[in-house]
Amino acid sequence: MEITKKHSFHGELTVPGDKSISHRGIMFGAISNGLTEVTNFLQGADCLSTISCFRQLGIAIENDGSRVLVHGKGLRGLKKSELALDVGNSGTTLRLISGILAGQSFQSVLNGDVSIQKRPMKRIFTPLSEMGARFQCWDAMHFPEHPIKSSSGRAPFTIQGGNLKHIHYQSPIASAQIKSSVLLAGLYGDGITRVTEPVLSRNHTELMLAGFGANILSTETTAAVWPEPVLEGQSIHVPGDISSAAYFIALGLISPNSELLIQNVGVNPTRSGILKAALAMGGNLTLLNERTVSGEPAADILVKSSSLHGTVIEGSIIPTLIDELPVIAVMASFAEGSTVIKDAQELKVKESDRIASVTENLMAMGADITPTEDGMIINGGRSLHCARIRTYGDHRIAMSFAVAGLNADGETSFDDENCVTVSYPSFYQDVERLLK
Ligand code: S3P
Repeated sequence: MEITKKHSFHGELTVPGDKSISHRGIMFGAISNGLTEVTNFLQGADCLSTISCFRQLGIAIENDGSRVLVHGKGLRGLKKSELALDVGNSGTTLRLISGILAGQSFQSVLNGDVSIQKRPMKRIFTPLSEMGARFQCWDAMHFPEHPIKSSSGRAPFTIQGGNLKHIHYQSPIASAQIKSSVLLAGLYGDGITRVTEPVLSRNHTELMLAGFGANILSTETTAAVWPEPVLEGQSIHVPGDISSAAYFIALGLISPNSELLIQNVGVNPTRSGILKAALAMGGNLTLLNERTVSGEPAADILVKSSSLHGTVIEGSIIPTLIDELPVIAVMASFAEGSTVIKDAQELKVKESDRIASVTENLMAMGADITPTEDGMIINGGRSLHCARIRTYGDHRIAMSFAVAGLNADGETSFDDENCVTVSYPSFYQDVERLLK
């Protein structure tokens, strides 16, 4: 596939359902009593991995391609899977399911693709081991035919769950995956489990678990969960994913004579840092029709072409836009002046090392970008030219550089454009439809 410069984008668009919320709808439905209905479920590869893992754990899940019905079996209704659970490319599946499996009386084996096998899991092994779960990692090269013990701190690994102790975990990292993993294990603890993080990360787990009937309390950067709740199945309507909307926000802002209305986007303040960053860069953005959908704030976002300027993105805003930083870096290349991104060392352990993958590809397109230990500095305003993009199988790199390619001279090509199916299977068709 080649992408060439297009002049402007117009029209209305609905992005697919939120990935984080879709995962949680399946997981929390599985450990609740009775039926959970998830509408506008994201039919991306990551969320389908969550469905297949819970099916393997004995949960009946019907999926008609949009609506998903989960026949929950309550907190202690999961069954041991004889085969390894395959999370594919999904870090959220792996880290959250580990919290649930830590509380089960059986053993589980977890594995995923080559990208997952490189991602750090000690960050969940540490608190979950403190609660009483046991982990054993295996050498990925020889697994499962020849299981060789490894101390890699990565998948594949075995979890032996059991009776868990409650803890107050002081997480060194602002990560919703770590927080959620510990809180889910806390449902099986012997007292109130608390997680304090350095900066508040996305709070979908806290909001949705409360909706299912858990006793959960959040105060600033600490969340506390009471054990042994009776969770009841719910109807969840998933708002559009702001992380997917981000590519169209960027496209609308940097493409000349463009105007896009992105409908029904989740704008939870723990997720919507891109809106603040885009406004700080001089972006013409308006939120319309603000409302609450299944306990989550949602709105329509009107985006118009803008003359952007650089900004500094650092500190507590970082977890609220962590997945959007690759496309923000692309926006920064089209802005006048410099943009400095700091405190974002977590970018190194996402689906790819996103400091390296963004830098490599933006440099190849002629941008002035310097990687740093915890972010990057981009001096914008140079016109970009085409390049062959190396995605590293990372969906967010592919979509960010599609946005860049649509505003660059020449034919931009990709080593693997299909990785967008992880979170946004219809991405290229949606771009095509909005071309004026
Ligand atoms: C997610 C949390 C974030 C994010 C990921 C989804 C979630 O990861 O990058 O795409 O659904 O909880 P961390 O919590 O590790 O930062």
